[in-house]
Amino acid sequence: MPLDNYLYLCRRIMNQRTNLRHMKRTFLTLIIALLPALIQAQQADYRMIPLPKSVQADTVHVFTLRNGMGIAYDSSNPEISRNVQFLRQWVKELTGIQLALTPDDKKAAVRFTIGLPADKKMKKAKKGTAPALTEQQQEAYAIVVNKDGIAIQARQPIGFFRAAQTLRKSLPIQAVTQVEFPFATIQDEPRFVYRGVHLDCARHFFSVETIKTYLDLMALHGCNQFHWHFTEDQGWRFEVKALPELAKKGSVRKQTIIGRNAGLGDGAGIYDGQPYGGYYTQEQCREIVNYAAERYINVIPEIDLPGHMQGALHVFPDLGCTGGPYPVWEIWGVSEEVLCAGNPETMKFLKTVLGELCDVFPSKFIHIGGDECPKVRWKNCPKCQAKARELGLKDDGKHSVENQLQTWINHEIEQFLKARGRDIIGWDEVLEGGLTEGGTVMSWRGTQGGIDAAKQHHRVIMTPTSHCYIDYYQLKNQWGQPLGIGGYLPASKVYSFEPLLPETLTEEEQKYILGPQVNLWTEYVAYPDHLFYMLLPRLDAISEVQWCRSDQKNFDDFKARLPRMLKLYDRLGVNYCHTVE
Ligand code: ACM
Ligand code: ZN
Repeated sequence: MPLDNYLYLCRRIMNQRTNLRHMKRTFLTLIIALLPALIQAQQADYRMIPLPKSVQADTVHVFTLRNGMGIAYDSSNPEISRNVQFLRQWVKELTGIQLALTPDDKKAAVRFTIGLPADKKMKKAKKGTAPALTEQQQEAYAIVVNKDGIAIQARQPIGFFRAAQTLRKSLPIQAVTQVEFPFATIQDEPRFVYRGVHLDCARHFFSVETIKTYLDLMALHGCNQFHWHFTEDQGWRFEVKALPELAKKGSVRKQTIIGRNAGLGDGAGIYDGQPYGGYYTQEQCREIVNYAAERYINVIPEIDLPGHMQGALHVFPDLGCTGGPYPVWEIWGVSEEVLCAGNPETMKFLKTVLGELCDVFPSKFIHIGGDECPKVRWKNCPKCQAKARELGLKDDGKHSVENQLQTWINHEIEQFLKARGRDIIGWDEVLEGGLTEGGTVMSWRGTQGGIDAAKQHHRVIMTPTSHCYIDYYQLKNQWGQPLGIGGYLPASKVYSFEPLLPETLTEEEQKYILGPQVNLWTEYVAYPDHLFYMLLPRLDAISEVQWCRSDQKNFDDFKARLPRMLKLYDRLGVNYCHTVE
């Protein structure tokens, strides 16, 4: 072999050897680098928001959940099966661990069983005469983690959903191959029966997808009532099939004022020149109702009446006292143009709207608004005054004629809804003309309306601006002024709310307080990122007011538990306010 060829061959062999060595080394380095990720284990953490009622956890022993382990459950029950699927999906999303469905495997790592240990004891003691459970007790669940795995016990499928959310929030938020659950016994049930969150989709319209995300976040926090405000001076957003023009035309304003318009009248200020609209078809409303129901959230629709109606008056000007014309309002605030109480067509209109509303929304509660209804038109309207005379209304020093006229409307509507098996909720102004018997008061102008209502034995939802208006800003600017509408409402203030007002209400009166709600008005909130920024983390704060016993609450501890929730929001891709005051 010529020398050149020989040398060439030697070089190739050497190179191949070097390459082989190089490849081996790279492979080994890769394995070493990936090893922790390949067998990575992280611990579950039970310090979440809202904090469960009782958590007794072991600091030494863990049960290790791994890929491929099974879930046992009653697969003949579709509701339980759905909740199992939720848990499976959340475990996969957050950790990458895929659990198997093994309904009949009594030794499965995760086991869903109906019934709480406390009930068995109670039944034995009382020989089958268990007392009626409160709604909160129906939601109760227990999670027991021991060497055999994770046992989830609940009285009802809803308890499984709550337990699945708790396990979801305990998970590490990173890809792992196994999760170590400290041995524990968690027992939980909510404090208040009503745990509400409101959204104004009238001042600005939010898509079905955005509302679903909103509902997901509510469910994550154990909230169970979605108060959907979707008719306003600035736009009517509920399709009424018998009145097709109502949503088509009533949802569109020609333009919107830019910025705040406090003190400005129609036409003053600077406008964006952009038509703005959008409404929800009944089909979309049903989609939202179903989506919410799968997450144990009831949707309470609000038709705000007889004020906040300029969107409707635009389409039906004859229903106003002056006959219009009325543009869909382009500015913020409270319009003086309201439904004419003396026009018999008004009641027909309302009954048509509410009849279809009842067809779409199964909620026991229907919200009829009743807030901020200026009486200036009614005072000067011959039809309204004639109606007041016909009803024999007189100023009794406590209630004006016009306030009583509003009570008459409320009463008519209440009867109409009662015949359909529904109860009304009204903003606290409904007390001004004397509240109708079965009405529930939503106390927003402070807590006084709620106090008065509870003392009169009306049911109450507490949502005072001072603690529950999350359209108020949670931060101050560099000059120490709150940003946005209304005022300054940091998470700490929301957190400090005590809805039962034990200093003012007796224990008996406190029973009329169903629970608290936060409200998100959207005059100055037009986009989903801004919406979720306003919501989070004040939703976390209200969720502990709604869910936890008052003696469990501690804001410093809450703040220490918050970063894991924020990490979850990052993972879910929702915006939030990073500074918590
Ligand atoms: C309200 O904030 N007008 C109920
Ligand atoms: Zn009138």
